[in-house]
Amino acid sequence: MKKITALLVSLLFTHAIHAQDHTDLYGIKVDSLISLMTLEEKIGQLNMLTGNWEATGPVLNDSNKAEKLKKGEVGSMLNVKGSTNTHELQSLALTSRLGIPVLFGQDVVHGYKTIFPIPLAQAASFDPAAIRSAARVSAREAAVSGIHWVFSPMLDVSRDPRWGWVMEGPGEDPFLASVIARAMTEGYQEPFGDGLSVMACAKHFAAYSGAIGGRDYNTVDISLQTLHNLYLPPFKVAAQSGIASFMTSFNEINGIPATAHPYIYDLLYNQWNFNGMVVSDWGAIREMVMHGYSKDRKQAARQAIQTGITIDMESNCYSNYLKELVEEGSVREETIDKAVKQVLLQKFRLGLFDSPYKYGNELKEKEELLSPSHRETARDVVRRSIILLKNEANLLPVTHTPRNIAVIGPLAYSKRDMDGNWVSLSNESVAVTLLEALKERYPQSNILFAEGYPATGEDRSGFNQAIEIARNADLAIVTLGETWNMTGEARSKGDINLPEVQQQLASAIYQANPNTITLLMAGRPTIFTQISEEMPAILYCWWLGTEASHAITDVITGTYNPSARVPMSFPAHLGQIPVYYNHKNTGRPPVESEKNYSGRYMDITHKPRYPFGFGLSYTEFTYTAIQTGLKKDRLTLSLDLSNTGNYDGTELVQVYINKVWGASTRPVKELKAFERVFLKKGETRRVDLEIPFSEMIYYENDGWGDEKGDYKLFIGRSSSDILFETSFSIE
Ligand code: BGC
Repeated sequence: MKKITALLVSLLFTHAIHAQDHTDLYGIKVDSLISLMTLEEKIGQLNMLTGNWEATGPVLNDSNKAEKLKKGEVGSMLNVKGSTNTHELQSLALTSRLGIPVLFGQDVVHGYKTIFPIPLAQAASFDPAAIRSAARVSAREAAVSGIHWVFSPMLDVSRDPRWGWVMEGPGEDPFLASVIARAMTEGYQEPFGDGLSVMACAKHFAAYSGAIGGRDYNTVDISLQTLHNLYLPPFKVAAQSGIASFMTSFNEINGIPATAHPYIYDLLYNQWNFNGMVVSDWGAIREMVMHGYSKDRKQAARQAIQTGITIDMESNCYSNYLKELVEEGSVREETIDKAVKQVLLQKFRLGLFDSPYKYGNELKEKEELLSPSHRETARDVVRRSIILLKNEANLLPVTHTPRNIAVIGPLAYSKRDMDGNWVSLSNESVAVTLLEALKERYPQSNILFAEGYPATGEDRSGFNQAIEIARNADLAIVTLGETWNMTGEARSKGDINLPEVQQQLASAIYQANPNTITLLMAGRPTIFTQISEEMPAILYCWWLGTEASHAITDVITGTYNPSARVPMSFPAHLGQIPVYYNHKNTGRPPVESEKNYSGRYMDITHKPRYPFGFGLSYTEFTYTAIQTGLKKDRLTLSLDLSNTGNYDGTELVQVYINKVWGASTRPVKELKAFERVFLKKGETRRVDLEIPFSEMIYYENDGWGDEKGDYKLFIGRSSSDILFETSFSIE
């Protein structure tokens, strides 16, 4: 009977497919299917359960879940990976009365099997095309492994590097984050439904990164102005780019948990016209009780569904209470139907009703996962994500073949730490170690390795050996930083200084051999004062994934000229946090030399160590013939950019504005346009950029202002290295 019903629904509309617009068509199909569903089956579609996190054997340790799948009580699952496992569970779902296929979602945050740089490192590339290509590869690998839906991009703009989550985000700037939001959404989703694209998910909605003190899950208490101008822009762009889903965030915003915050969901559904699904974060619905907002889980279920949260991830609040709530009249069945419609619509759009095993294919899995072309894409994205922070006496690039190379630090022979945190298949790292990559690159060199310092702890007993090999080498490479689990969810830190033991060892190595290159690997901006002052050449290498080491050697040898920029200010002192470029001016801006009545610190500088947008290259660029103009709805600017140095390379042209005065104060600088420009040595090219006036508006005190007003325009190499400044007014 059940199969027949499903078949009927399908046949009934096969004919109409050609005659009607797809969206309408799916709408009709969905309505028809909903009319056949019991209340329990509807609620099942809103219920998401987990498989086993690292499932290598039977996927479900709880046989009850299999029963639930068979009864249509589960609409989606997460943490089930691989075509065999997903097929096994899909086949259970298909035996349910209406045979509705289940959705498989997964945290594919920076790659599925081919691991890409952590998102914060990708942001450092300022390269939407590269970011899109990383998402595309990740989508393909996930799709052939049976995944329909990735819980990415994470779009939480963050100013606080203590917050562990920064590694998954786009950094501190809402404009850059918005560009990334579009690139990742397109990369994951397009072309939608081809079996190699997946649904993307904008998370965490919203203001998750505003956690007080940078402590994970902490309270968020912010103005509407900050919400609209800082946190929401990338989410709005994701919605406008057609993203299939949003995920709630664990925090409250000004007294109401984000998971039931009427204000932000009114924006999402009614002003941004989003028509996809919203999934709660893990257990976030039941956590509203702990927040002290919901009286009990039943009330939490009511509040969440009424706010527009489509799917309950692992709270069991919907499955336990929605039926009761409908039967007693506190939730209308139409509210449930609306959410069910959101889910079924996506299942139709993905083509799962016609072909439930469309995603997940063992043969393709073998072809696609870690394919040479995927690894090549990863290597390219990695190279674009490495920031050259310092290069005294042009120590880099190393274009000769050193006879003896000393490699120091435990990160140089680690695979797992290359991948970084929050990877899908975490225990199976296939990353190449730096030692391996260097040996591949310099087969003629004598490469010696010493650990020098421990991955954790303060033991200095390895110092002597490390110093010894450095002293006798032509080149020393010191790797410093964090192991993979030191940044990420629930990995907030009160102290982001690099451990003293690492800084001391680096200094000792430098004393023994001035030809020392420092590689810093971490999931967040860290503080390393002694190193930044003393060491001559520093590359910030983040956690870069499978191809990290090949790409790092590409940069060391000059095969690739570094082009990345700081996506989030690197503090000079802990006490400055949060420190960010797009701050307001205040009535008494800080002046370092002004002892009294200026907004400076008495004991430390107020300036970051490395400001937003900063990053060096092996070559040099000059900007000439800068022209600006105003058109009806946009500002235009053009300039001649010349590569005047000794290497081919890429410059990042950055354009900032400042609205000088108005109904609301504005940041001293706001990034509004940027472009990566590759120039051969000696080449000059005209670069044209524009800023639509719509980009200049700002949420003032109680609503959006308009673009009219007096502005300054800055063109620079970073947010603090300004080469050109002019003024303009929009009447
Ligand atoms: C995280 C989400 C993630 C979810 C599912 C939560 O703890 O906050 O970002 O998507 O788990 O794994």
